[in-house]
Amino acid sequence: SNPSLLILPGDGIGPEVMAEVRRIIDWFGDKRGLAFDVSEDLVGGAAYDKHGTPLHDDTMARAQEVDAVLLGAVGGPKYDVLDFSVKPERGLLRLRKEMDLYANLRPAQCFDALADFSSLKRDVVAGLDIMIVRELTSGIYFGEPRGIIEEGNERVGINTQRYTESEIDRVARSAFELAMKRGKKLCSMEKANVMESGILWREVVTEVGKDYPEVELSHMYADAGAMQLCRWPKQFDVIVTDNLFGDLLSDAAAMLTGSLGMLPSASLGAPMANGRPKALYEPVHGSAPDIAGQGKANPIACVLSFAMALRYSFDQGAEAERLEAAVNKVLADGVRTADLLGEEGVQPVSTSGMGDAILGALDAS
Ligand code: NAI
Ligand code: MG
Repeated sequence: SNPSLLILPGDGIGPEVMAEVRRIIDWFGDKRGLAFDVSEDLVGGAAYDKHGTPLHDDTMARAQEVDAVLLGAVGGPKYDVLDFSVKPERGLLRLRKEMDLYANLRPAQCFDALADFSSLKRDVVAGLDIMIVRELTSGIYFGEPRGIIEEGNERVGINTQRYTESEIDRVARSAFELAMKRGKKLCSMEKANVMESGILWREVVTEVGKDYPEVELSHMYADAGAMQLCRWPKQFDVIVTDNLFGDLLSDAAAMLTGSLGMLPSASLGAPMANGRPKALYEPVHGSAPDIAGQGKANPIACVLSFAMALRYSFDQGAEAERLEAAVNKVLADGVRTADLLGEEGVQPVSTSGMGDAILGALDAS
């Protein structure tokens, strides 16, 4: 049977950008014989409007069964008044939690045509293609004890960095698997010089590395890593790091490259019976209520999220490259949505205009 894909367009510009991805998915079915068993459902405010909950149990169950979930975005001002328990983002949080998605993948990818958008020099970012794997379900954001306590005559704020061997082992494996599908180079970042969790992190990653002899493993202190990411990011291929450092490093690295409308992401969990990891793919951006319904949204972040699904869930690395090359081609041809404008005299295309251009480039590929 065909690989299965659950599509959750969500709210705001989510459905607008997802409509373009649907056309691209159909293109791969028609032209490349790559058919998916696609189902579509509601999440976020859209699900709340229909069911009174931001994620219906049936949708959750379906997400657990499919080979990959592709999500648009959730949220919007209309839902700001809702009780915390039914807020749109709770739908997304429930998906991440129940699927136990512990590896967050954030690429920093710079298409040549957009290199001048970066605040860094063109040669530092042009052609950049690195991946940061951030541990997402443990570490200092979750560790106990935590809280604000009274001590003597003042208050103390406490958080605990805590990682078990198995938590480090599983995210390290995700990172090595990715490295195998990419440049076979992995850099692990922690602060083993000053943190016990960092010492354990380095030990466990080194141990897991013995199962991946083809991957060249290196270690770097995370502060030095931050510096190197800005100085010469092309030295990296895959970076694996903990929740806190990954939060900072992935935001910084993503912004090396330009617009929010260009950034895809993935969250992966444990391998399923068929060997594929549980997986949720989504653009980094939100529902953009300021431009929703106007056909202005850039669909590329969502398109590239699907490209990630092709590569990391469906083992279609060559087809993922085909799609990324098509995006590169339209950008090189000067096709721009409004968020990418910079050059004088360029007229922006609409969301579907960008979809048309990418489909045209795919046809020519
Ligand atoms: P946002 O990412 O929705 O928008 C920030 C700015 O970037 C806006 O000016 C927007 O127009 C622009 N932008 C974002 N995506 C774009 C695209 N594809 N093309 C062109 N321009 C784009 O973040 P914001 O405004 O903080 O949040 C809006 C809503 O989205 C809130 O309800 C928030 O909770 C939700 N949100 C949802 C996320 C998710 O579904 N994963 C992530 C972040 C926010
Ligand atoms: Mg962050």
